[in-house]
Amino acid sequence: MRLITLLLIFVFGTLVISMNVESAEPEQVHLATNGIPGEMVVQWGTEEDTTVFCDSDNTVEYGTGQDSLNFSEEGDDDMYLWTTCTHTTILSGLTSNTTYYYRVGGGGEWSDIFSFKTLEAEPESVLIGAIADHGTSSNAQETTSNMVPIDFDLVIHAGDISYANGAGSGNGVGDQSVWDEYQNQIEKIASKSPHMYAPGNHEEDAEPYGFDAYESRFYTTGSNSFWYSFDFEYIHFVSISSEHDYDPGSSQYTWLENDLEDADGNRENVPWVIVFAHRAMYSSNGEGDGHGSEIEFRDAMESLLFDYHVDLAIWGHDHHYERTYPVFEEQVYANNTGSYDDPYYLPGAPIHIVAGMAGRSLYDGFEEPQPDWSAYRELSYGYTQFEVTKSGTLHYEFIRNSDGIVSDEFWIVQSLDYKPSGTIGYPEPGTNQTNETEEKDIVDKVKELDYANAPISILIVTIVAIFKSRLREV
Ligand SMILES: [Fe+2]
Repeated sequence: MRLITLLLIFVFGTLVISMNVESAEPEQVHLATNGIPGEMVVQWGTEEDTTVFCDSDNTVEYGTGQDSLNFSEEGDDDMYLWTTCTHTTILSGLTSNTTYYYRVGGGGEWSDIFSFKTLEAEPESVLIGAIADHGTSSNAQETTSNMVPIDFDLVIHAGDISYANGAGSGNGVGDQSVWDEYQNQIEKIASKSPHMYAPGNHEEDAEPYGFDAYESRFYTTGSNSFWYSFDFEYIHFVSISSEHDYDPGSSQYTWLENDLEDADGNRENVPWVIVFAHRAMYSSNGEGDGHGSEIEFRDAMESLLFDYHVDLAIWGHDHHYERTYPVFEEQVYANNTGSYDDPYYLPGAPIHIVAGMAGRSLYDGFEEPQPDWSAYRELSYGYTQFEVTKSGTLHYEFIRNSDGIVSDEFWIVQSLDYKPSGTIGYPEPGTNQTNETEEKDIVDKVKELDYANAPISILIVTIVAIFKSRLREV
């Protein structure tokens, strides 16, 4: 009798499991990068019947024509205490400068066909999008719509991604379905440009979730999802967490110190180092409903950014756009305007950006005077982007949603000749690092060359060349 009962349980269990063994419809298709040229990380979600079994396949079919998805790759999957299964499949051996078409799924359930374009080998420039504090509001959707037509090579997101934990389902653990809604909302852009993230305070949900959704849904390149780095052409990107222990002696601090030391020693191959995380080391939105500079975070880690000559730091958390001058310990190292006529030449300290204007409610206004270290700030929705050239320039822009114009932009000009390990020619704090008279002279010379119709990158390179030759004369 006992044997028969066991047999019945087995047969019933098998039936239940086999009823569940069918693929679900792929959704939330998005790309990530592992930094390896010729590879692309493809991720997507499927809505499963349980939070335990992921029965859907991990297949990507791809090729260079919509009707010729001749290649196939298998990957892995992951679930947390929610019914969304995240699939991760890495494509390799891709040809540079080529449009690939792909669909994801398997087992009879396939997504639409999406596409992405691989980078050229040694491209002249790369275009990176950067946002934070996004969410699912109409303003957030407008930001995404404005970004969709742009062919970003990469998008970085400095945290507070979906605001699922702020959605509140009444049980204290947020609403995990907001993550699904968010990832479907950004599918149009995330399926064609890889996205990489840093964790914000809104990625942490109440127990039992914690950071599970963030960890499960997004590919990262490190041994954990919270601090990791990767090279992307001319840029070494470092994603760190303002939501975890960052004090000297912590594992994150030690990791960051080692990573930045290695990156600073590798400038010849990867000349730019850019850090992104959620809470801003510099933000002037510190009264009223803003947060302001995250002093403890800054006290703990700013010296690492300075010592290893990080070029740019991109933050969120405060819902506005802001750019600093090159700054360390609140001392301005150069007060150039950053404009085309007066770019940040060889900045002696990191430049900080607050990019928390992507969609979450803007604050009412700035209630404190603009500090000396703040070069520009604005309360508008929008996105930021920057182009990094092979020749050593970085052009950063803030594009606001309301009228689509570039309402702030600045240039950073670097040269490996003057920054082999970041120790040569740095000015003292509080001084303008360029000689104003000489600089005007340089600009006049460039204008005399009548390159008005030349690409602006050529003009900047020309300025640098003249500037360098004058330095050598001194
Ligand atoms: Fe935040």
